[in-house]
Amino acid sequence: MIYTPESFILFSMEKQSLDTLWFKDAVFYELHVRTFKDSTEDGMGDFPGLISKLDYLARLGIDCIWLLPFFPSPLRDDGYDVSDFYNVHPDLGTLEDFKMFIKEAHKRGLRVIADMVFNHVSVEHNWFQEARQGPSNPKYNWFVWSQSSKKYSNARIIFSDIETSNWAWDPEVKAYYWHRFYNHQPDLNYENPEVREEMKKVVRFWLDLGLDGFRCDAVPYLFEKEGTKCENLPETHGFFKEVRAMMEQGYRDRILLAEANQWPTDTIEYFGDGDEFHMVFNFPLMPRIFMSLARANRQAIVDIIQQISNIPKNCQWATFLRNHDELTLEMVTTEEREFILTEYAKHQKMRINLGIRRRLAPLLDNDRLTMELLTALLLSLPGSPTIYYGDELGMGDNTYLGDRNGVRTPMQWSPDANAGFSEAVDPEYLYMPPVVNPSYHYESINVRTQEKMPYSFLNWNKKTIAIRKKSQAFGRGGFRVLGSENEKILAFLREYKDERVLCIFNLSRQPTFFHLDLSEFANLIPVEMANDTRFPRIKAERPYFFTLTGHRFMWFKIVEPHLAPPKSFE
Ligand code: NOJ
Repeated sequence: MIYTPESFILFSMEKQSLDTLWFKDAVFYELHVRTFKDSTEDGMGDFPGLISKLDYLARLGIDCIWLLPFFPSPLRDDGYDVSDFYNVHPDLGTLEDFKMFIKEAHKRGLRVIADMVFNHVSVEHNWFQEARQGPSNPKYNWFVWSQSSKKYSNARIIFSDIETSNWAWDPEVKAYYWHRFYNHQPDLNYENPEVREEMKKVVRFWLDLGLDGFRCDAVPYLFEKEGTKCENLPETHGFFKEVRAMMEQGYRDRILLAEANQWPTDTIEYFGDGDEFHMVFNFPLMPRIFMSLARANRQAIVDIIQQISNIPKNCQWATFLRNHDELTLEMVTTEEREFILTEYAKHQKMRINLGIRRRLAPLLDNDRLTMELLTALLLSLPGSPTIYYGDELGMGDNTYLGDRNGVRTPMQWSPDANAGFSEAVDPEYLYMPPVVNPSYHYESINVRTQEKMPYSFLNWNKKTIAIRKKSQAFGRGGFRVLGSENEKILAFLREYKDERVLCIFNLSRQPTFFHLDLSEFANLIPVEMANDTRFPRIKAERPYFFTLTGHRFMWFKIVEPHLAPPKSFE
């Protein structure tokens, strides 16, 4: 091939677009278009508003945006009740706005994935409205009907605070329809090949508009089978393998990320043999981070990572501390759940279903040190981290708003009216009130104020994300725990090619000291990464001594002496 300037550009684009493992190095950022920035003064965020904030996200250093559902919907489950998979909710803009948003995000090197709700639709979706006309309608078999509400009785009820059955009676059809979530969200019938084909068509539609992949909602529940829990069935895995195979043809750099809130052994299955999901949310790890912190003991984190670290090479865990739902405690033992609830959700209002509806900062009593500690764990444990919008500022919540809305309040941009989120004249227009609790009031917790203060939590996040980016060991490296008698300490190595990063965390509130056996790195130098500070040379003959004050952490790269900076006190 002769390289003309044009062919070079094509070649580089091709090379860029074929970076099929980009998600391993990426920092993800979850946001809701509705809650982010309003450009029309109607009190609701929209795509043009989001476009105007892309520079903020680029400055923060994230790589991929995850959009919560933005499709037309009656919004009885915040958009997870989709009434048309091929359009944008009119409150949020148009398909043209969406395309412009993708273009603008890509221009800034940001990728975008979006929620795809495979399992169910809204009762208002045309498919269900047609199905309601009865068995003679071709859409009838797109849903799961029964004359008995006793079928599939081994399936648990997920929204246990609201629903008493997974069946709802339809007076028009005179039959029950199956729903794993709210009764206004009928499950699609995946036994029907037409449904499977239609949902693949939906996937192609959005990929063709430039989306970089999907956060796939509620993946374990697609199929039902009598006598089982109706979760994680082989047919469900089979369907996602088909979707993956389709993406391997022509969409090789796009990703599928699974929301499968299951026990560890069932969760890990969603990677398949590297032929199903590229990424799976690390639901097993998340509650155990909070447990380790409350117990000031590393064991819960170490045990779970050791159980789930063996995943296919082309796959990656998606780690997270908080998201738009409750901090779910479905997949821990009853004692563990009671312990976490007692520690983190003292008041009933903070609880929903089996979890805790609070944001990161309030969960941690707004303690800056602990917020840094957990965020640093998120950024350095194996997997790609996902930050929930506003948590980079330490935004508060409002447990007096219904359902999980207390953690879905408007992004706090400035001390101006409506937190700078919207210029709607009447605050009642806002889809949700901004946080005004004095500890978290938008007049102090907001982007504009924090961008100005060099040591704000926002600037700490920016800096720490930037440090993570300096070493591919964080995204791609192996994970090795370094033993120490002191169980308050979590120390581990992330190693990739010739890079080694040592991470140490004090999970307790008290200062502590400990030794690590680093003799395999004899004669090398630990360099503290936040300040590029040289530490004493590692000796073969004696363990390395550290001290850490309460809830502090440090990351070190371990390098040859000639690559280390000079001693800082010289
Ligand atoms: C999981 C989503 O994260 C949650 O917000 C939603 O309510 C359920 N799936 C049902 O779609």
